[in-house]
Amino acid sequence: MTTSWNQPPVLKVRGLKVYYETPKGDVLAVDGVNFDLFKGETLGLVGESGCGKSTAAMGILQLVTPPGRVVDGEVLLEGHNLLGMSEQALRAVRWIKLALIPQGAMNSLNPTMKVSAQIKDAIIAHEGKQANKGIKPRILELLTMVGLPGRVYDLYPHELSGGMKQRVCIAMAIALNPTVIIADESTSALDVVVQRVVAQTMLKVKDALGVSMIMIGHDMGLMAQMVDRIAVMYAGKIVEIAPVKEMFAEPKHPYSQLLIESVPSLKERKPLKITEGITHDPRNPPPGCIFQLRCPFVMDICRVQPPVMRETNEGQLVACHLYPESVDGSLINVADVARNP
Ligand SMILES: Nc1ncnc2c1ncn2[C@@H]1O[C@H](COP(=O)(O)OP(=O)(O)O)[C@@H](O)[C@H]1O
Ligand SMILES: [Mg+2]
Repeated sequence: MTTSWNQPPVLKVRGLKVYYETPKGDVLAVDGVNFDLFKGETLGLVGESGCGKSTAAMGILQLVTPPGRVVDGEVLLEGHNLLGMSEQALRAVRWIKLALIPQGAMNSLNPTMKVSAQIKDAIIAHEGKQANKGIKPRILELLTMVGLPGRVYDLYPHELSGGMKQRVCIAMAIALNPTVIIADESTSALDVVVQRVVAQTMLKVKDALGVSMIMIGHDMGLMAQMVDRIAVMYAGKIVEIAPVKEMFAEPKHPYSQLLIESVPSLKERKPLKITEGITHDPRNPPPGCIFQLRCPFVMDICRVQPPVMRETNEGQLVACHLYPESVDGSLINVADVARNP
């Protein structure tokens, strides 16, 4: 299944804002996120811990609970806006159209229920009791699809390894044949070898079912091998979005550059360069660019004016004042101008 770039996106997120109320003011966890997800595509959403990835996922599914709230935005799934939909209408969308494998899902499996019973519950909850008929072969097929042996049917979560539990979570997510799957850090808790194998299973399943997928993670290196496009998130905003090849060949945003430099190369085993994390108070972001306090190229304009997202080359979008628009609409790279006056 190849990605359909020239068809309308399956999922369109526009201006999504999700804030958490705290005694000292709102935490702007997701502050105006925009992106498209195309049919059959895998989009990686990458950024340091606390940048708002999980909150964005919950916002997309309308699963934000107090003290969080969706403040603004549009989430268009096949053209229908999920924001403002009734809870009943949303129930028909979640799992069936839009499935989430939440962060830490494998540790939330019910320890007292067999794997088969948990998958069965998920199916019956959405399809009704009649689904019970013929459900065993269906569950066995799901287990096969995610690369688990049939004997897992009768096992309890504690009898499974981390990788196997994660596969059970994937089986639950695909049980209802959704259009979009959001996998939040689904491989992060696993060791590197298992990570890769589980991620590959996810991609195989994705291709077999023709679904679109958002893979959330913080490991740029792992992402690079798994996804079609990468969206880089910093402090509640997507700062750059590009096909993997372009992102690695020529990351445009200084933060993307930092993330990519921090990917340990297999030969050198360079230590991670990123140690600072998000340096401003998420309740009180600086005016202008969100990245100004850490940016090695910060300019005066960055301190006053938030950059807008621009397409620098085909498919590569970046929100950074280093790439302003000229009068004729073409892009000028200030960094290049500075280097070659
Ligand atoms: N219940 C909450 N109350 C207040 N702040 C929260 C709450 N949950 C998350 N946050 C804040 O929202 C921001 C984004 O968190 P999160 O979406 O979990 O990030 P990520 O998934 O990228 O690690 C962080 O600054 C976090 O501290
Ligand atoms: Mg998270």
